[in-house]
Amino acid sequence: MKIMCVIGTRPEAIKMAPVVNAFKKCDDFDVCVLATAQHRDLLDQAFSLFNIKADYDLNIMQPGQTLPELTSRLIVGIDKILTEAKPNLVIGQGDTTTVFVTALACFYQKIPFAHLEAGLRTHDLYSPFPEEANRVLAGNLARLHFSPTEVSKSNLLREGMNPKNIFVTGNTVIDALLTTAEKDFPLEVTIPKEKRMVLVTSHRRENFGQPIINICKAILELVNKYSDIIVVFPVHPNPNIRKAVDEYLLNNERIKLVSPFDYGPFVSAMKKSYIILTDSGGVQEEAPALGKPVLVLRRDTERPEAVTEGVVKLIGTEQNDIIAEVSNLLDDVDAYNAMAKGASPYGDGKSSKRIVEIVRDYFLQVNR
Ligand code: UD1
Ligand code: UDP
Repeated sequence: MKIMCVIGTRPEAIKMAPVVNAFKKCDDFDVCVLATAQHRDLLDQAFSLFNIKADYDLNIMQPGQTLPELTSRLIVGIDKILTEAKPNLVIGQGDTTTVFVTALACFYQKIPFAHLEAGLRTHDLYSPFPEEANRVLAGNLARLHFSPTEVSKSNLLREGMNPKNIFVTGNTVIDALLTTAEKDFPLEVTIPKEKRMVLVTSHRRENFGQPIINICKAILELVNKYSDIIVVFPVHPNPNIRKAVDEYLLNNERIKLVSPFDYGPFVSAMKKSYIILTDSGGVQEEAPALGKPVLVLRRDTERPEAVTEGVVKLIGTEQNDIIAEVSNLLDDVDAYNAMAKGASPYGDGKSSKRIVEIVRDYFLQVNR
């Protein structure tokens, strides 16, 4: 049976890598990888750590790409590869334009599509934009849904999906995290022992413009207020983020603006950090498993499980709110310890093995 795994961006590569490697270990399957390269540099970075090689590479990324341009290049490119490779099942991950278009291209060719990280919802089609729509659309075109949690499964059931096609597998990000976290990777920044590291990431479209400016101003004020913190900010290559960050945060010796870390060093940076400030989806899943408090620079989340556990908090993007919430964790040890207790509601590190077994059963039934 030929399985095609389609990967476009950094988080898809990290979360799909354990699945590709699990299928590779299994003689029943012939697995191939289609890299759309919606992200070029970030994808190559993640592939090299996990030793993934693309069998097909569309090399789609263009600087400052718009959603319509990206969508049209992807649909034509993916369709051609499907025609050539003729997979029996295609797997896509998450909520990017790559995954939505992959599901659509499979639908046009009547090839079954399996959705990894299925059923995450904020229930607001415009937030996050365009990811909520991407995952709803991909989910509606999917034959198999691999949901990370019971919450995500229940979202799909509410939308009328067939329960027989939904499997709670955990999130494969925890598979990637646990194997990577075993090792300590050197960081390009040195953090003196007496300083507390605040790790920051931001890339979300709804934070372009005033929100990212607010985030930068809050960081500046926090660094002025606390002499014992060092901010480490691996800046996403999206020009909308990079421009604002450079404008407000350059040339401060306690704000380390660095290029995106490879996944290994990023996991080590999470382990070393005191607090994590982020709008990332993946980081909301990983950091709790490492016992690190996460303050989310958004008003809503499709990942409510860790918020319910009390280890992730939604704080929005108002400058004063960010300053107040970070200060609270820096000043109040009890508040800090309550959030740093650690929890892993998104997985146990065995999700990709489960997925291989489910796919095996699926083909047994189809061939019967
Ligand atoms: C994309 C996804 C988002 C995901 C994020 C993960 C969509 C619409 N957005 O957002 O859901 O959370 O990836 O990081 O699918 N760029 C580079 N090099 C890279 C990557 C990006 O230079 O390796 C720059 C390019 O100018 C590119 C721009 O960033 O055009 C935007 O990339 P794009 O994939 O469209 O959006 P992201 O904001 O990265
Ligand atoms: N990540 C990384 N290097 C960095 C920042 C993040 O490897 O400098 C990893 C992070 O651990 C997580 C993934 O990238 O697994 C999240 O990607 P991103 O935040 O870009 O996308 P999202 O998860 O929001 O879709």
